[in-house]
Amino acid sequence: MTQPSPLCPNQMQVHSVQQETADVWTLNLINNDFYPYQPGQFALISIRDSEDTLRAYTLSSSPGLSRFISISVRCLPEGAGSRWLTQEVKPGSSLWLSDAQGEFSCVQHPSDRYLMLAAGCGVTPVMSMCRWLVANRPQCDIRVIFNVRTPADVIFAAEWHSLTAQHPQLQLTLMAEQDVQPGFLPGRISEQVLLQAAPDIASRTVMTCGPAPYMQQVEQLSLQLGVPAAQFHKEQFHISAELNDEQGDQLTLRIGQPLREFRVPVGSTLLAALESHKLPVNAACRAGVCGSCKTRIVAGKYTTTSTMTLSAAEIEQGYVLACSCQLQGDVTLA
Ligand code: FES
Repeated sequence: MTQPSPLCPNQMQVHSVQQETADVWTLNLINNDFYPYQPGQFALISIRDSEDTLRAYTLSSSPGLSRFISISVRCLPEGAGSRWLTQEVKPGSSLWLSDAQGEFSCVQHPSDRYLMLAAGCGVTPVMSMCRWLVANRPQCDIRVIFNVRTPADVIFAAEWHSLTAQHPQLQLTLMAEQDVQPGFLPGRISEQVLLQAAPDIASRTVMTCGPAPYMQQVEQLSLQLGVPAAQFHKEQFHISAELNDEQGDQLTLRIGQPLREFRVPVGSTLLAALESHKLPVNAACRAGVCGSCKTRIVAGKYTTTSTMTLSAAEIEQGYVLACSCQLQGDVTLA
C-alpha cells in the first residue's frame, strides 16, 4: 500500500489490541524499521489511510523497554479517529504513523524530581515517562497524581500497581470524583492535595496532561505554590478531544461577518472552541504540524504552543494554528 501522507511515512502492523478500561484500548504495533522516540512523545496517525485526516496520539510505550510501539486511545462518540482505531482496526491491520513529535518528554525536561499530574487519558505520556524513568534514572524521585471520574477509569491499573510496588521512588496518588474506594482521594485536584503529594512542589519539575480546564487549573495552582514557569510543562493536543469538561471559567469568542458570539472554556484550543460550536475549520493533524488550521485572530488574549508552519509576518498579523492556540481571554477572529 502506498504512503497516504508525506507526514506519515512509517507503516506499522497491528500485533494486538488490548482493552484497558470500558472506553480505552491499547493498540500494540510492530515496526520493521528503527523508530526513534522519546518517552512522552506523540505520533500522527493517518485515519483510514487518508491524506488529510490525521490524529495525534501519545506513544504509550517506552523506548528501549516496550516490546511494541503502542498507542492507547479513548473511544470518543464523535471521534472519527478514535472510533476507527478502537472499533474497526484489528490485529493484522496496517497503520501509517508520522515520526515521533513533541516536547512533552522528561528527556527534554531533565530533572531529578518530578511531579506529574494527569487526568483521564492524559495519563498515557505520564506512564510512558514513569516506566522509562524508573528503568533509566533510578535515583529520580517521581510523584504522580492521577485524576479519574471513577476507580474503574484508571488506565494501566495493574502496571501502576506493580511499578509502584517495585520502585519506591515512584509514588502515585489516585483521585476519583465518584464511587470513591479505599486507595483513592475523593474529588478533584486542589492546593491541599498537591502539597500533600509533594510538599516540595516549588522545587520540582511539574508536567501535566489532561483536559484543558484541568491543565489550566493545575497550572494556576502550581504557579501559586511557587513552581517557576520554566519548570511547568503541559501537553497540548489532548485538549480538543476532551473539551466537554465542565470545570473552569468561560470566555467569549467573537466571529465577524455576520457577528456571532460563543461561550467557550478558558484554556481551550481555538480548534476545539470552533468545532464545539460546529463552525467550519480544516484540521488534518491537530498537533501543530501540518498548517491546515491556520486562522487569524484580530484581537484578544491567547497563547500558542506551535507556530511551526507560520512565517514571522503571519504571526505578526495575528495568524495562529487553531489546534495549537489556547484561548486565555475574550477573542475576536477576522
Ligand atoms: S491541524 Fe495541523 S497544524 Fe493545526
